[in-house]
Amino acid sequence: MTDGLLLRAIRCEDLPRRPLWVMRQAGRYLPEYQRMRREHTFKELMRSPQLAAEATLLPLQRFALDAAIVFADIMSPMPALGVDFDFDPGPVLATPIRSRADVDALPEVDAEALGPAVLATLQRVRAQLGNDVAVLGFCGAPWTLAAYLVEGRGVAGFPTLRAFAAKEPAALGALLAKLSEAMASYVIAQGRAGADAVQIFDSWAGALSLADWQRLIRPHLVDLLDAVGQAGLPRILFLQNAPHLVDAYAALPAEVLGVDWRLDLAELQRRHPGRVVQGNIDPAILLAGPGATRTAAQELLRRTDSRGHIVNLGHGILPKTPIASVEALVQAVHGSA
Ligand code: CP3
Repeated sequence: MTDGLLLRAIRCEDLPRRPLWVMRQAGRYLPEYQRMRREHTFKELMRSPQLAAEATLLPLQRFALDAAIVFADIMSPMPALGVDFDFDPGPVLATPIRSRADVDALPEVDAEALGPAVLATLQRVRAQLGNDVAVLGFCGAPWTLAAYLVEGRGVAGFPTLRAFAAKEPAALGALLAKLSEAMASYVIAQGRAGADAVQIFDSWAGALSLADWQRLIRPHLVDLLDAVGQAGLPRILFLQNAPHLVDAYAALPAEVLGVDWRLDLAELQRRHPGRVVQGNIDPAILLAGPGATRTAAQELLRRTDSRGHIVNLGHGILPKTPIASVEALVQAVHGSA
C-alpha cells in the first residue's frame, strides 16, 4: 500500500491536496473527549492503552484528518527518569531540579520504563488505521522538558530556568544530555511500536537569546535529532514563540519544521527553499468561528507553496474552539490543491 498524504508531503512529493492535522486534536474541545473525562481522570486515560487509543482516534472519527497523534503528554516518559509530578492542569513537580546535586541524583534511565503505555497505545492505533492516515509519536525537546523539571510548572518566561542556565550551565548541560538520550530511546521505541513519524515539541524554545541557545541547548537537540534520523524515523521539529531562532532551527537535521502563527510561512518558504514546513493558523482565529477560520485557511493556502506544506495550527487547539471551525478548516484544505 502507498503512504498517505502526510508522509508523501514529508518527501516533498506533488500531491492532490495538502495534508492536515491539528496540534492537540484529541483534547478538550471535543464533546466525546469531555464525556470520557467525566468518567476518567487524564492520568487514568493515559495509563490505559485501550482508553488512550480511543481518545487518539476520536478526532479522526469526526474530521478527515491525515494524521493521528498518540494521546499522551510530554511528561509521560518522565517516571523513567525518577521525576514525580502531577497535572494541575499542566505538569507540576513535587520537587523541581534546582542544583547540580539534583541533576546528579537522577537515576540511570531504565529504557523499558519510558512510556510503556504510550507504546502499547501506538500499537493499537496503528492496527486500527489504514496507511492513508499517518500515526504520529512525539516527545518534548530536551529544553522544553527541562523547563518543567527546573521551573516546577509552566510559568510565563520560565525565570527560574533562565537563572539556572546562567548560574549552573554545566548542570543544565548534564540535564539536557540526559533528556536527549532518554527521548531518543523513547521516540525510536515509538517508531517500532507503529509511529510513522515523530514530532519533537520545543514549545518553550524561545526563552533564551540566540547566542545562549547556540551554546547551551543546540548541541543536545542535535544529538536527539541525529539519533532519531539514524533510526530512519521522519522528524517534525516544532518551535513556538521563538522568531529569533527560526533560521537556526531551519538549519537543524529534521525533515519538517513546524512553526507558530507569529511567523510569515510564505516568507519562511522563500528563505528556505525546499524545506518542508508545517503550520501555522493562529488557534485563536478558530474561536472567532467558521467564517474567520475559512478566510484564514484560504489566505494561508493562497500565499504559500503547496509543495512540502503540512497544514496545521500554529499551536495547540484551544479548549473553547467550536467544532464548526474545525469543519471549516478541513473543508478549506480539502477544497483546494
Ligand atoms: O501544547 C504544546 O505546546 C505541545 C507540547 C506539550 C504537550 N503537553 C503535548 C500534549 C506541552 C508544552 C505540554 C505540557 C502540558 N501538559 C500542558 C500545557 C500547559 C502548562 O501548564 O504548561 C498541559 C495542560 C498538560 C496536561 C495535559 N496534556 C492535558 C490535561 C491533556 C489532555 C487533553 C487536553 O488538551 O486537555 C494533555 C494532552 C497532550 N499534551 C497531548 C499532547 C501532544 C495529546 C493530545 C493531542 O495532541 O491530541
